[in-house]
Amino acid sequence: MDLKGRNFLKLLDFTPEEIGGLLELASHLKTRKKAGLSHRFLKGLNIALIFEKTSTRTRCAFEVAAHDLGMQTTYLEPASSQIGKKESIADTARVLGRMFDGIEYRGYSQQTVEELAAYAGVPVWNGLTDEFHPTQILADFLTIQEHFGRLKGIKLVYMGDARFNMGNSLMIGCAKMGLHFTACAPKEYFPDPALIQTAKAIAAETGGTLAFETDPQAAVQGADVLYTDIWVSMGEPEAVWEQRIQALAPYQVNAELMAAAGEQAVFMHCLPSFHDHKTAIGKEMGERFGRDSMEVTDEVFESDRSLVFEEAENRMHTIKAVMAATLHKG
Ligand code: CP
Ligand code: NVA
Repeated sequence: MDLKGRNFLKLLDFTPEEIGGLLELASHLKTRKKAGLSHRFLKGLNIALIFEKTSTRTRCAFEVAAHDLGMQTTYLEPASSQIGKKESIADTARVLGRMFDGIEYRGYSQQTVEELAAYAGVPVWNGLTDEFHPTQILADFLTIQEHFGRLKGIKLVYMGDARFNMGNSLMIGCAKMGLHFTACAPKEYFPDPALIQTAKAIAAETGGTLAFETDPQAAVQGADVLYTDIWVSMGEPEAVWEQRIQALAPYQVNAELMAAAGEQAVFMHCLPSFHDHKTAIGKEMGERFGRDSMEVTDEVFESDRSLVFEEAENRMHTIKAVMAATLHKG
């Protein structure tokens, strides 16, 4: 597998073999890190991390992974740079591309990260857009592989707003790697029909399947993974909380739904999560709408069937693999 010089913008751009190769490399780098073996393969390189939205996991994963590989990082946020206000994405890309060996970008439109990549002349990695969150899927798939020993044939049910970055990316990732993907939500929360058609064509080649269900009990039968995400994503107005809660409350992952799935089922979530009142927004919305939790109950989140912190750790190992695979040294 040679991915040197490639961007990592969405899983649609990669073959199943390439995605499998990145997971293998991540697993290898994870073993090295756990064994305390140095892997400063990219010593002396510099990368820029642009975040137009907030982050804990993605930023820390890029920073720790870069430092482990021997690289320096520069963090840029809109408030402290010219991006968007005084300088276009194309101009920013051409400036940063002359100073840095790679660029991570988190923002709103997928179009922006694609434009950045078109002008930068160095690898660009998508750290989340409204449409796709591809590095998250690598972490999720490494976690599934570690738990179940395989990806092919695994049934993953995504509960909730499947039209946004996580639903879209999981659907494409599952199609690429031959998993059985189900989106479970009211119909208006299903992914874009054109993206569904693309995913169906891919799944036809890999042995994966796609299903779209409105009934949670029917959807989760025999599921290996129940996956959910927050109901209101970054960049959406606070005003949508009420309609989201009304529409998605029946799709909350709770003990009853885990039981309906069966004993093999694990719980996954990209995080952050509103599973209690220990966050400012979780408390405010919980009290306003009379709920203890939103997309997942605290009971399921804290249970031994929850793999959420394994996933979070794997963000770092998989992002490290993406950088190690795409960057040139020397
Ligand atoms: N899962 C994820 O992308 O987390 P952050 O928003 O904290 O980066
Ligand atoms: N859908 C969420 C994912 C966070 C990792 C968001 O965009 O806020």
